[in-house]
This record gives sequence, structure tokens and C-alpha cells, in this order.
Amino acid sequence: MSHTPIGIFDSGIGGLTVAKAIQRALPNESFIYFGDTAHLPYGDKSPESIRSYAKKITELLLSNNCKAIVIACNTASAHAYKEVLKIVPNHVPVINVVDPVATYTAQHYEKGKIGVIGTKGTIQSRIYVKRIEKHNAKLKVLSNATPLLASMIEEGYFNNKISQTIINNYLAKPTFKGIDALILGCTHYPLIKKEVERFYEGKTEIIDSASVVASAVKETLGKKGLLCTSGKKPKYHFWVSDYTESFEKSTAIFFKTKQKLVEKRIWSEKS
Ligand code: DGL
Repeated sequence: MSHTPIGIFDSGIGGLTVAKAIQRALPNESFIYFGDTAHLPYGDKSPESIRSYAKKITELLLSNNCKAIVIACNTASAHAYKEVLKIVPNHVPVINVVDPVATYTAQHYEKGKIGVIGTKGTIQSRIYVKRIEKHNAKLKVLSNATPLLASMIEEGYFNNKISQTIINNYLAKPTFKGIDALILGCTHYPLIKKEVERFYEGKTEIIDSASVVASAVKETLGKKGLLCTSGKKPKYHFWVSDYTESFEKSTAIFFKTKQKLVEKRIWSEKS
């Protein structure tokens, strides 16, 4: 059982930031990564749509023997975590990306102001506000949706003058004045972390989900006795619901060698 893969999903390449951190923290583990490129971006879809996508992807991952499910997407974590839990057998843990980051923030900051940026879906759900202020009532959570960013990053459009201008424009909002830390509440955003840091000139901590979530996955698998002990070379599978060239390029950049990208048309009869 423990040598079976971890199932990880997102709307696109964003969750690769989490997959990469999982690979670093758990080098023996295999995984199947599913990018729902047919429905990207998730950020402006209705909660009902997100729930139905997340359920179908989870079913696919379970039918391929995944021993754990990582919802590597804030929007899906906000809207579909409970639904995913309902369809997953008890022995399969489900890890979302919001709870580990909210717990980390609530424990590391005694008081003060925490900013959050994310998709419209994540910000409108107020999930970070609810989770962080529940764990630590002395923290004030201020959030702003940054809807252009995920699509911009998905297209490989970052680390240039235009992306920096868009990022600066979002971060300059008065809501964020005097924040002590900023949470990157979308798994695409670690790819623009440097640009965000540049805006704050290193004076504000930028919290991203990748390593915090990878630690949570390690801890959960350890507690459940699900860590891989076989010593075999791990296998990585990359699946998408609609083939995109930018996705294939991104997997090669993240994982250093060209990865085979398999299209799984789970939304059409042919599947
Ligand atoms: N990476 C996702 C998230 O964390 C989704 C971005 C999108 O598809 O809009 O919210």
C-alpha cells in the first residue's frame, strides 16, 4: 500500500509548486499530478462547478490507487474540501492547502495584520479570514482578489516589467497598508514570489503554501503509516484534461527533465 502514489491536483501548473516541495520533502514517494487545464482558471468558476471538478478528479486518482489526495489549489480547497472528504475512504487522507498555511500563520504571528492575495473564489469564500482568526483572534486578516495573476503565470508571463507592474498595482491597494506578512493564497503565486518580495523590499514576510503543505503531507503520511519504505525509484505521472504546450514546458522546468504529459479527457464520453 505505502508504495502507491500520492494524488495531487490543481487547475493547471500552480500545484506543481506543491508537487515539487513534496518531492523535496519525500524523495521516495511517487505521485500522480492532475492539471485540470480544460477548466482553467478555477478562480472565477462557481463553487458548484469547482466541487464537481474536484470530485471527478478525486475519483480518477482513487481509481489509480492513490493513497492520499492533495488538493494543491486554494480555490478547490476553499470550495470542495468537504465534498472530497465525503467521497474518499477513511484510510485515504485528504490534505488541502489552506489549513496548513492558516495554522502556520496563526502560530507564527502573535498579533498584527496579515494580508492574503488569491483568486476571486478563494477571497470571496473568506476561508483564510475564518481559519486564521479562529486560531488566533489577535490577528486581523485583510484580503484582496488578484484575478489576473493565475492566468498570467500559467502563460509563463512573469519576471518581466509588465508582470511587475500588475503585481505592484495589486499590492499597492490601501487595504494592505502596514501588513506584517502576506500570504500567497494561490498555488500559482510562488512563481512570482520574487516580484512580490521586490515590491516589499524584503520588509514583509511572504508566506507561500508549498513547503508548509509538503511538511503537512509528510506528517500526515507518517502518522497514518503510509510512507513509502520500498526503496524503489519513485515514479511521477503528469496528467492534464486538455494538452497545453505551456504545461509541458513548465513540468520540464520544475522537474529538470522533459516529462511525459498524458491527456486524460475525463470530461468527454471518450474517457
Ligand atoms: N492554483 C489555484 C489556486 O491555488 C487556481 C488558480 C486558478 O485556476 O484560478 O487557487
